[in-house]
Amino acid sequence: MRIRNDVLIVGAGLAGMRAAIAAAEVSRQLSIAILAKTYPIRCHSVCAEGGTAAVLREGDSFDLHAWDTIKGSDFLADQDAVEFFVKEMPKEILRLDNWGCPWSRTEDGKIAQRAFGGHSFNRTVFAADRTGFHEVHTLYERMLSYPNIVRFDEYFMTSLVIENDEIKGLTAIDLRNGELVLFEAKAIILATGGAGRLFGFTTYSHQVTGDGLAVAYRAGVPLKDMEFFQFHPTGLIPSGILMTEACRGEGGYLKNKDGQRFMEKYAPEKMELAPRDVVSRSMWTEIIEGRGFESPYGPYIALDLTHLGEERINERLPLIRDAAIKFAGVDPVEEPIPVRPVAHYTMGGIHANMNCETPVRGLYAAGEAACISIHGANRLGSNSTAECLVFGRVAGEKAAEYALSKSYYPSVKTIEKEEKRIASLFSEKGEESAYEIKAELNQTMDKNLWIFRDENGLIEAVKKIKELKERYNHVSIEDKSKTFNTDLTFAIEVGYMLDLAEIVAIAALNRKESRGAHYRIDYPRRDDANWLKHTLAYYTKDGPRFEYAPVTITKWEPVERKY
Ligand code: FUM
Repeated sequence: MRIRNDVLIVGAGLAGMRAAIAAAEVSRQLSIAILAKTYPIRCHSVCAEGGTAAVLREGDSFDLHAWDTIKGSDFLADQDAVEFFVKEMPKEILRLDNWGCPWSRTEDGKIAQRAFGGHSFNRTVFAADRTGFHEVHTLYERMLSYPNIVRFDEYFMTSLVIENDEIKGLTAIDLRNGELVLFEAKAIILATGGAGRLFGFTTYSHQVTGDGLAVAYRAGVPLKDMEFFQFHPTGLIPSGILMTEACRGEGGYLKNKDGQRFMEKYAPEKMELAPRDVVSRSMWTEIIEGRGFESPYGPYIALDLTHLGEERINERLPLIRDAAIKFAGVDPVEEPIPVRPVAHYTMGGIHANMNCETPVRGLYAAGEAACISIHGANRLGSNSTAECLVFGRVAGEKAAEYALSKSYYPSVKTIEKEEKRIASLFSEKGEESAYEIKAELNQTMDKNLWIFRDENGLIEAVKKIKELKERYNHVSIEDKSKTFNTDLTFAIEVGYMLDLAEIVAIAALNRKESRGAHYRIDYPRRDDANWLKHTLAYYTKDGPRFEYAPVTITKWEPVERKY
């Protein structure tokens, strides 16, 4: 089957839906399609909890938000992109307010804002601790009002078609019947989210397997800064469910087994509200040095909210209370929550500029799938949902304008090669299991690409990933049926993750410095002379080839980061 649209968006989370709305608003004449492997309101964006950063009040300023973001990024963010982002963000908050997003309010009815790590002003807008959920539902409802947006729910992308550096279309499996469908489009936006399931202990839902990144990479689009992966300080033990940074924004403490608020040693000014890379390293240091609590699920640190009181917890952190009771048997009103750092965010992604343009004409990227880059080596909490809104809009508008400027539809001759590739996965009779390979990949990532890295561990990881890639060639699909074949899609996802893990590991091995979330115990200092640059990874059949690109500095020269 062949389906044709002017603009095609892959991914129906915050960035994807915001892009669809923006494209529809450019012209009601455009046909816009949004395709995703899950139903839109089951996207991973619903898991965003704590809030969305924006300058809304006197005392705050665009320069201050930009500075916090750039310092938080350990100076790897492109400063022109950050300046643009912070200026656009307040408009997005007001737009969502108009569209019905139930933001939490102050007593006098204004949009409330809370403290978040690394921000020097209380600028995080929120809807209790279900911010992503409410943002997603607001955008979903809004999206339904545009007759020129059509949805392809539960389609699984397998490849991009690019010819002469121009996008032509993509292939996707219709999960209801297993048919491989060709989608042709004048412009395509990839808004498929990050790659968090590379790690075993993670806040990400199981669907976040880096599909857009891997498909783009295989088609020749470079991925940027993939060595930078964020570890959120507070993942619930043992599931990894996010215990939002808003717990600390609302006044919660982190304590070691001696009852000490140990952040006073590591970040005396910001304490628990230092940026995530700093807090996660501090927690891990406490654990390594024997000051964590012991449990059957490994060591942990106490996240203490008991002093906040039941009323405040119920008003501001209801999801946290519910999740802690259900998944850890702990009521935060009465006792501290057991937490430890957890893989949470992919700073790297598809190489794109401030217009969300990739090096391929007509191909755009937005949200966590993209690396524009406003987060550099370490993202500040609540800048992610914000990024999805701002750059979702930009991508939608730019893609729509591009589609309007093109007088003809691309035409893809055949997808026979892709059909054969998918068929060959079914016919492989090897002994390997994709589930086992994924489990071993997760173990390697959790061991060797965690918060503290070193050369030996990284070399071990690269070797293991290469071994897993070789074994992957002999994976067999047990389930031969066509309808919702999760055995097949899981195996394809594991292939995506292996490609991405290889890039993360080699890029981390290459980067001989410590910056933001990438901490090398054998190179503990930031090295601006040699490493103030972006990493670009290009696909080759033998593994990634690397190039480097300069960082854009507008007015903030790198200085030592202290909190
Ligand atoms: O802690 C949180 O609520 C996460 C927010 C974010 O990653 O931006």
